[in-house]
Amino acid sequence: MRADIITIFPRLVEAALSEGVVGRARTAGTVDIRVRDLREFTDDRHRTVDDVPFGGGPGMVMKAEPVYRALEAVRAERGNPDAVVLMTPQGRPFRQQDAERFSRMARLVLICGRYEGVDERVAETLVTDEVSIGDYVLTGGELPALVVIDAAVRLVPGVVGDAASVDDDSFTRGLLDHPQYTRPAEWRGRHVPDVLVSGHHREIERWRRHERVRRTRERRPDLLAGATLTADERNDMGAHDAREKEQEP
Ligand code: 6GU
Repeated sequence: MRADIITIFPRLVEAALSEGVVGRARTAGTVDIRVRDLREFTDDRHRTVDDVPFGGGPGMVMKAEPVYRALEAVRAERGNPDAVVLMTPQGRPFRQQDAERFSRMARLVLICGRYEGVDERVAETLVTDEVSIGDYVLTGGELPALVVIDAAVRLVPGVVGDAASVDDDSFTRGLLDHPQYTRPAEWRGRHVPDVLVSGHHREIERWRRHERVRRTRERRPDLLAGATLTADERNDMGAHDAREKEQEP
């Protein structure tokens, strides 16, 4: 995967991409991510990237021309991108499926917008996807772009050592994860659930499956509709519904 991130805060983005799993994948050459300073694609003395909005109102709007030039430079150096993604709170919500789609792309470009907006003609002519990471407003698209890159890069084959940990992901299967514990088995008077230290692998799997369903039902009932439950998991749900019914007055 080749990705380019266009931003007015290149040092912030570069610093985040140098650490951890993503940093290692870059050093190893498994992914090739470059950060581009939008101001390098201006031609005035003040390196102006924004201007006042037509029609009036507060804040500034990102100009179209520097973004266009930055994209032209990326195209010339790296080839035609498979997607040009604009990070904006007006975008469609970013989901695990989008991370999977982006992770399979050979060439990806992310544009970090500022929250007052980017000249709409950029979206009309240059952008393939407008993406938001959630229902809250941030000061810019840099943190969202890092979220998107992180979620996609860890799905690129060879980036995460243990492929099982990726396949097993919560959102891949549409359920939250079960609780995890590590040593010591007793910590400040609190014990790890007996089943996990029992060595009974079938019982452990059953317990985990039950906990995944229970947590999802409690915390994210909206996910259950789209989750693919095994027969046992549906059974767990049924058992819960029966208990609820017993408690009805
Ligand atoms: Cl992509 N950008 C900004 N500025 N705020 C956001 C967002 C993006 N996603 C959620 N909030």
